[in-house]
Amino acid sequence: MQFTIIPETCTNCGICSTECPSKTIRKEENAARIINEGCIECSHCGMVCPVNAVRVDGSELPAYPADLKSLTKEEAADHLIQSKRSVRSYKKAPLTNEDLKAIILAGEKSATATNSQHCDALIFQGGEVAALASSIARILLKFTRIGLNPAGRALMKLAGLKRYADKEVVTGFHRLLQKTLEGKADPLFYQAPAVVILTYPKKGKRFGLTDCGIAGENMMLAAHSRNIGSCMIGFAQVALFSRKQRSRIGIPKDRQIGLIFTLGYSDSRYYRYPARKNWSHII
Ligand SMILES: Cc1cc2nc3c(=O)[nH]c(=O)nc-3n(C[C@H](O)[C@H](O)[C@H](O)COP(=O)(O)O)c2cc1C
Repeated sequence: MQFTIIPETCTNCGICSTECPSKTIRKEENAARIINEGCIECSHCGMVCPVNAVRVDGSELPAYPADLKSLTKEEAADHLIQSKRSVRSYKKAPLTNEDLKAIILAGEKSATATNSQHCDALIFQGGEVAALASSIARILLKFTRIGLNPAGRALMKLAGLKRYADKEVVTGFHRLLQKTLEGKADPLFYQAPAVVILTYPKKGKRFGLTDCGIAGENMMLAAHSRNIGSCMIGFAQVALFSRKQRSRIGIPKDRQIGLIFTLGYSDSRYYRYPARKNWSHII
C-alpha cells in the first residue's frame, strides 16, 4: 500500500508524525511527508488526521458512521471491534479501580479450552511500569549493543532481523533503551499507566497461549468501550524469553507468558477506520 499526504490539505500540525509507530513521517516546511520505506501500513497517520489529508493508494480511509448514537446493536458491536486501535499515547491518570475491575472481569469470564480457567494476570501500575520497562530495556540492550558494530549487524541480517540490521534504526533504538534506564523514555510501554501480563501454566495446557489471546482481546475491547486504550507488546514478550528474566519480574517458574499489553486512558483521537487487506476467502 502507498501512503501519501495531500500537501494542499495538510496543515502541518504534526499529529500524524507523533502518532506514527514506525516514525516514517517527516514534518517538512509546508506539509508532512510519508516515507513509505519502513512504514508498517497501520493507517494511524490517516486515522488521526483532523483534516483527512492522508490517502492510501489514492483513496480516503473509510469514515466512521456520522452518528454513532443511532447505530443498531450489531453496527455498534462492529464499530467497537473495528475501531479498536493499538494506542501508544496515554493521559497520565491511573485507571480507576472500577474500570480495572471491569477489564479483569472480561478476562476472567472469557472462554478457555476445556473450561480450565487457568489464565492469570500480573498487573503493573504507576512506578512499577517504569521498573518493568527498565528490566526489559536491560535485556534488549545486550542485543542492540551487538547491532552497534558492522559484524553484529551482518549477524542480525542473517538471523532475519532485517530492520535491526539497519545502523540508524538500531542506534536510535539503543539510545532510547538507554534513556529508559534513566526514566526519560519508554519505547516499550509508551509510559502507559498500566501493563498487564497474562500467564498460563507451562505444563498440561495445550491451548494456554490461545486462551490468553482470547482473554486479552476481550479485556482490551472492554477497555476500549470505556475509552481506555491498549497495545499488545510482543517486543516485551520476546525479550522475556528466559525463565530467569521472567522470575525476576514476578512470573512463577511454572508459568509461561501468554500476552502482554498496556492500558491507559487514550490521548489519541481517531476519526476513521484503517485500510486493511482482504483475506483470500477459501469457500
Ligand atoms: C501479537 C502482536 C504483538 C504486537 N507487538 C507490538 C509491540 O511490541 N509494540 C507496539 O508498539 N505494537 C505492537 N503491536 C501492535 C501492532 O503494531 C498493531 O496491531 C498494528 O500496527 C495495527 O494497528 P492497530 O492495532 O491500531 O489496528 C502488536 C500487535 C500484535 C497483534
